[in-house]
Amino acid sequence: NTVALAFSGGLDTTVCVPLLEEEYDYDEVIGVTVDVGQPDTEFAEARETADALGLEHFVVDAREEFAELCLQSVRANADYQGYPLGTALARPVIASAILDVAREEGCDAVAHGCTGKGNDQLRFEAVWRDSELNVIAPVRELGLTREYEIEYAAKRDLPVEGGNEGAWSIDTNLWSRSIEGDDLEDPSYVPPEEIYEWTDPPSGTDSELVEIGFEDGYAVSVDGEQLDAIELIERLNALAGSHGIGRTDMMEDRMLGLKVRENYEHPAATVLLAAHDALEGLVLTQEERSTKTSIDQQWSEKAYQGLLSAPLVDALSGFIDATQQRVTGTVTVKLDGGHARPVARESEYAVYSESAASFNTETVDGIEQADATGVAKYHGYQDRLARAATEETDVPE
Ligand code: ARG
Ligand code: SIN
Repeated sequence: NTVALAFSGGLDTTVCVPLLEEEYDYDEVIGVTVDVGQPDTEFAEARETADALGLEHFVVDAREEFAELCLQSVRANADYQGYPLGTALARPVIASAILDVAREEGCDAVAHGCTGKGNDQLRFEAVWRDSELNVIAPVRELGLTREYEIEYAAKRDLPVEGGNEGAWSIDTNLWSRSIEGDDLEDPSYVPPEEIYEWTDPPSGTDSELVEIGFEDGYAVSVDGEQLDAIELIERLNALAGSHGIGRTDMMEDRMLGLKVRENYEHPAATVLLAAHDALEGLVLTQEERSTKTSIDQQWSEKAYQGLLSAPLVDALSGFIDATQQRVTGTVTVKLDGGHARPVARESEYAVYSESAASFNTETVDGIEQADATGVAKYHGYQDRLARAATEETDVPE
């Protein structure tokens, strides 16, 4: 019997290998690492660890699919409690890639190294439980703690990283880096600078302008240069990261109801979400904007849950697609000191008349300033009636 394990070469997935053989009686474990834009060093580590464990190791490249999903999430202004969704978007992509390998290799089960306290178990299993394969979650089922895993790895001489990098649980993809666990679990503990890898300390005073081009709500260019999704995200991660942009330190409410202290880095996501929102501000009507806020929120919640294939999401996407047809244009974003601020926007679909809004024009499209007098007279009239009724006075003329 063979089991395909979601394998990163980190602590959890490394201890899962001997456990699947010894505790679950599998003859063979194959490790599958799915490339969603982790740094090259992680693949080298995964490969080395797999070699040291004698594990047959598969790497699947899902970067393009994942990068496109990230840009799609921007069309829904997707965030959860203020942080751009990274891990949540990646898990279903990773889970289905592993399922494909598992089937090709004739496995009868798939396994992950997630704990029974987090979100990732739910996101993986939502995909896997919709298949004919068995699902195994050794860390959850055997009730392992991170401390126990560190000791177990040392005792068994398993190839795992030491120090803080080993104590923290880190999840990286193109869109975001998540750092949690160990001393970071204390919400009152100020994280050391060394948890950050993508962002410089946001103290710089030099500012820089970057122009993002959008077509149908999809980001397509940086400073006039057309880029594919992967290049675009990588370019902005480097650029915005150098200005310390995209750090989040938060208390996150997980799906099971537990709060957890999370740290994230997501420079490109911060720039793109700010730019996209600024462009929507120019091209969408007020009603579209306010309705879209709740549509986006629901899309984001399904994405956070790892349930983007839900029928509800198709319906929400219908609204999103309809609005995004006019989200074409450019936004200039100013990058400095940890901030990404849109400072200019342009679109052929602008729902905006400079001459109508300007303080320097009198009559536009047949409407004069004085036409607002009637509106001003009615504005707040009900409130004046209510006050007059309570105070038993007349409504002032
Ligand atoms: N809590 C975050 C989320 O649900 C990230 C979890 C990432 N996993 C990790 N081992 N750091 O999106
Ligand atoms: C885990 O608990 O395995 C990682 C964090 C999460 O899934 O939310």
